[in-house]
Amino acid sequence: MKSLAELLQQSAFSEADLLRLLKTSDPAQCQALYAEAFRRTTLVHGNTIYFRGLIEISNICVYDCRYCGIRKGNAAARRYTLSMDEILEAARYALKAGYGSVALQSGERNDPKFIDFIEEICAAIHDMSVKEFGIAQGCGMTLSFGEQTPQTYERWAAAAGNRNALRYLLRIETSNQKLFARLHSGQGKAQKTYAARLQALADLRNAGYQVGTGVMIGIPGQTEEDLVRDILTFRELDVDMLGMGPYLVSHGGAMIDEGMMQKDALLRLTRNMLSTTRLALPTVNIAAATALETLQTGARSLGVLSGCNVMMPNVTPQRTRASYQLYDNKQGTEAEPDSNVMLEAELIAKTGRKIGRHLLGSSVHFRSRQEGSKQN
Ligand code: 5AD
Repeated sequence: MKSLAELLQQSAFSEADLLRLLKTSDPAQCQALYAEAFRRTTLVHGNTIYFRGLIEISNICVYDCRYCGIRKGNAAARRYTLSMDEILEAARYALKAGYGSVALQSGERNDPKFIDFIEEICAAIHDMSVKEFGIAQGCGMTLSFGEQTPQTYERWAAAAGNRNALRYLLRIETSNQKLFARLHSGQGKAQKTYAARLQALADLRNAGYQVGTGVMIGIPGQTEEDLVRDILTFRELDVDMLGMGPYLVSHGGAMIDEGMMQKDALLRLTRNMLSTTRLALPTVNIAAATALETLQTGARSLGVLSGCNVMMPNVTPQRTRASYQLYDNKQGTEAEPDSNVMLEAELIAKTGRKIGRHLLGSSVHFRSRQEGSKQN
């Protein structure tokens, strides 16, 4: 069997290699894996971490994903939707802080009123970024509003203005279809299917978005082999960006009885997954998930040290933060945006990276695909 040191010299990895990397357990070997992922991230992406100011627009949701604390069936969740003014204020805050990009997320709705509202928000933020902040093409925008029709994706893309920095995050959650079905077997409106999720990702690519996906790590019933297949799936889908974080139990969800992994083991598995993915997919942007912070304070810097090159600081107004509780013990719900910005700067300083201010921050993967298509 190959040694870890031998594996870390390779640039192409078989399924068996990926499994070996993912299963690394000896602490010194884990450190070697993370260090190699960090080194390769530097080679391809430089020393910069891109920031996206995250605005959690609403926790109203018409679906019932069993893992999620804001699922429709959670009667205890206090529902909110931010006003246009609140959203613009949050976006203004992010742009003032020099984040070249905002990320907009909410619970999932497909009704015309919601679709119109998101369209208006995209147009208003774009307008503000050009007129108030002098960003010629407009700021970057990452949307995360679940599965929608191709028409809706196109309307939002047009409203967001800058098609060179237009992104959408839609996690597949797991590539194990049986597990996917179990996670999405709640009672809400028509439940999710894996096939529809893949179709949505294809529609997003057609609509010109930089496409991001990802999975939860450590889901009850998920195996390490599943995680390796997740990585292979990311490659098949040719995604530009990834967001992956630990699965954390949620009291508002419907999976409490299934428990969750022990925290230390879950942190290790998450870091192993981030680093193994980085080795397999050197050119994609990988975000250090907020969920890492629930495992250990400051753990997003460990994400960076394992190969992540994006962070999404929360700039949602403090009044509604505690209500966007996807999982238990979400960190930062008490914080004002100001203290967050300081915290993030500290986290980055610890890693030796620099914050990429005033940059759009598209992935190398996307930029090379674009150049490729210009030549063709
Ligand atoms: N633990 C970890 N991540 C979760 N998400 C939702 N619920 C949980 C949970 N209990 C993640 C999902 C979703 C994203 C918005 O939040 O992966 O795609």
